[in-house]
Formats: sequence, structure tokens, C-alpha cells
Amino acid sequence: MLKIAVLVSGGGSNLQSIIDDINSGALNCTIEYVISDRIGAYGIERAKKAGIKTIELDRKELKSDLSNTILGLVKGKVDLIVLAGYLSIISGDILKEFKNRIINIHPSLIPSFCGQGMYGIKVHEAVLEYGCKIAGCTVHLVDEGTDTGAIIIQKVVEVKEDDSSEVLQKRVLEQEHKALPEAISYFADEKITIEGRQIKIKK
Ligand code: GAR
Repeated sequence: MLKIAVLVSGGGSNLQSIIDDINSGALNCTIEYVISDRIGAYGIERAKKAGIKTIELDRKELKSDLSNTILGLVKGKVDLIVLAGYLSIISGDILKEFKNRIINIHPSLIPSFCGQGMYGIKVHEAVLEYGCKIAGCTVHLVDEGTDTGAIIIQKVVEVKEDDSSEVLQKRVLEQEHKALPEAISYFADEKITIEGRQIKIKK
């Protein structure tokens, strides 16, 4: 069975969607570790409640050693690393060791509203400011860039005229909670073929 590590920085609602789908039998994998890059992230509490092994790291203390520390913890222990609201940049050897084996969820339709500094509520504020009529989320592979890896899955929502950024965020988040477990299932069920930027999913 596919073994995964889930990395979080905050509330962990995306982590919760993975836990729920595993528990319901919809997703066929095991979470070996939940790792946070900051002390006190609520995602860690969710993992503890689900009986999952947790590791809390301090990004301020580890600085440029953060990715290497994570590599040391997961190397040889997991098949896939899932960034579920993880806000530090992944860099260094972990990108080679886990090539095509790190995925991230981003709350926009990439390549719009992504890249450095574009995360969380800021994304939804920018979408509204621009006057977009649609928004959505993207699950993609992680490479050397920020939000530049090949796209695995995207889900679209409507932007309504009276939306606040919080209301839009909630609508997108509902789709994230479907998209991320679905993307993991492509790896778990060996349905995914990766050829450069072109990702194909067996029906
Ligand atoms: C999610 O909306 C996720 O897409 C976003 O942070 C939120 C975390 O929520 N990630 C990024 O913006 C990454 N660039 P959660 O902690 O409740 O899963």
C-alpha cells in the first residue's frame, strides 16, 4: 500500500480530507507521518486525534536546513510527500530523491495567482481584485520553482458578484478537499503517467 507523509503549516483541513477518505475506504494509502514546519499548527492536533505519528519542526530555527531535515525523516519510509497547506519552500536534495513524488495543493487555477508570496487568503483577494469570473484549485507536482510543476488535477468554482475573499476561499476549499485525495488516489492506484509537463490519468 502507498505510504505518504503529509506536510502542514496551519489548520490542516486538507489533511483532514485525506484522513476522512482513508477512514471511509475511498482512499487506499497510509499516512506514516504528519510533519509541520511550525510549532502549534492545528494540523498536528488533527493528526494526533487520528493516531498518526507527528513531527513538529521550527522553520525559524532550521532555516535553510528545513527541507534536508524532512528528507532525513522520510527517506526510505514513504513513497509520496503531500504538501497540504505547507507554506515553506521545498528545496535541495529532497527534490531529486522524491522527483515526481511530491505534490502540492494550491488555491488557484495555476498558472494564475501563484508563485512566491501568493498563498492562503491573498490568492482569493487577488482573484476578486482582478475581477475573475471563475476560480479554483490545482494539485501539481513540486519542482525547483514555486508552483511551477506539472499539473495533476484542477477544479473550478464560480466567482459570485457579492463574494468576499473569505466566502470564495470556503467555496474553493470544498473543491480542494476533493482534489487532493483524488490526486493521491492516482498514485495509490497506479493510474498516473508523467511525461514532462504532460500528466495522464488512466480511466
Ligand atoms: C489551502 O487553501 C491551501 O490550498 C493553501 O493554504 C490553505 C491551507 O488550508 N495553500 C497555499 O496557499 C500554498 N501556496 P488547510 O491548512 O486548512 O489545509
